[in-house]
Amino acid sequence: MDFTLNDEQRQLQQLARDFARKEIIPIAAEYDQKEELPWQVVEKAFEVGLLNPTIPEHAGGLGLGMFDECLIGEELAYGCMGIYTVLMASELGIAPILIGGTEEQQRRFLGPLTEKAGLAAFALSEPNNGSDAAAMGTTARLEGDEWVINGTKMWISNGGLAEFTVVFATTDKQGGHKATVALVVPKDAPGFSWNKIKHKMGQRASLTSELVFENVRVPRENQLGGLGDGFKIAMKTLDKTRIPVAAGSVGIARRALDESVKYAKQREAFGRPIAQFQAIQFKLAEMAMGIETGRLMYQKAAWLVDQGQSHGFESAIAKAYCSEMAFNAANEAIQVHGGYGYVGEYPVEKLLRDVKLNQIYEGTNEIQRVVISRNLLK
Ligand code: CAA
Repeated sequence: MDFTLNDEQRQLQQLARDFARKEIIPIAAEYDQKEELPWQVVEKAFEVGLLNPTIPEHAGGLGLGMFDECLIGEELAYGCMGIYTVLMASELGIAPILIGGTEEQQRRFLGPLTEKAGLAAFALSEPNNGSDAAAMGTTARLEGDEWVINGTKMWISNGGLAEFTVVFATTDKQGGHKATVALVVPKDAPGFSWNKIKHKMGQRASLTSELVFENVRVPRENQLGGLGDGFKIAMKTLDKTRIPVAAGSVGIARRALDESVKYAKQREAFGRPIAQFQAIQFKLAEMAMGIETGRLMYQKAAWLVDQGQSHGFESAIAKAYCSEMAFNAANEAIQVHGGYGYVGEYPVEKLLRDVKLNQIYEGTNEIQRVVISRNLLK
């Protein structure tokens, strides 16, 4: 067993670290306040090779694996979880095409994302169902060689801005998961519209939308996998993409620790820096313990993916553990900063607002526990 990164991985990590320092950290607070997605960051990420890096070589991409994707993710989320979500959610839109698409579909849908900066999106949740994903109400009806889609999707990262969205729909509302289908919908499809969801608590630099489908037609060639495969493609996707959420959470926790160390060394109380009090030291130690443990978890889960081994159990553990660990780290970072931590002058209050979503999206942490316990009991 070897825990060291190879030269290429170290370079990749450094590239992402520099990118976060130069391109993300300086603008993160501003775009959070404006509730605006910084498109220039997406373009710069494309230029340096950090956008959609998992697109396979046969479709013109770099073909990076999950471990490398997560190394990048930890660094970008250190800069801003909201901006990282823009890039991470694009990978979430790409993953079902890698899982359920043919090589021809991968070339057709993913090839254009290697030619210019562009995003993908994944649409599963709806206004009235999230955790019970199989109970979807968006319908798909086959008319000749075209699918006709009707319904509304909710909480969709990059929704509307993405070049295409993988939409999960049902052909029979009584048919459960066996009646579901995964369809790729281009952003200019007639009948497709979207509304930005405003006033989010955190991750405000990422775009979250409601998507509306009114008799949207896509050719049958845009169907991923077979009829009835939609739900399973979604589940297999999430088994993978929950790991980058865990990696991003570790990035947030690391930022919380670094900011706390810096502040604790400067701030004085009772005639000495607060870093000299055990009450503060123990908080820092707890954060470090969580970060080390969380990183091992997400790296193991990512490694399993890259080895082609079963990973749903590990990815659920990593996602739930890391997001809770990072929530606690951000919370304690505010405590270390005292009143200053509670206002926007320091970055720690944003960390807490941002990390809350990591406990909710890509399956709530309660759903992760369902996945974990089903694995134990099966
Ligand atoms: N991989 C492959 N197949 C799977 C699977 C997996 N991980 N999980 C289930 N299946 C299969 C089962 O084997 C079963 O197949 P058969 O009937 O052929 O045996 C079928 O799928 C149905 O399985 P279940 O009966 O277990 O399904 P369920 O309805 O009980 O649901 C669940 C299970 C785990 C609760 C699932 O609904 C779930 O994960 N819900 C959460 C959804 C979620 O994560 N949403 C996040 C949206 S994305 C987002 O947040 C993105 C964002 O914008 C950033």
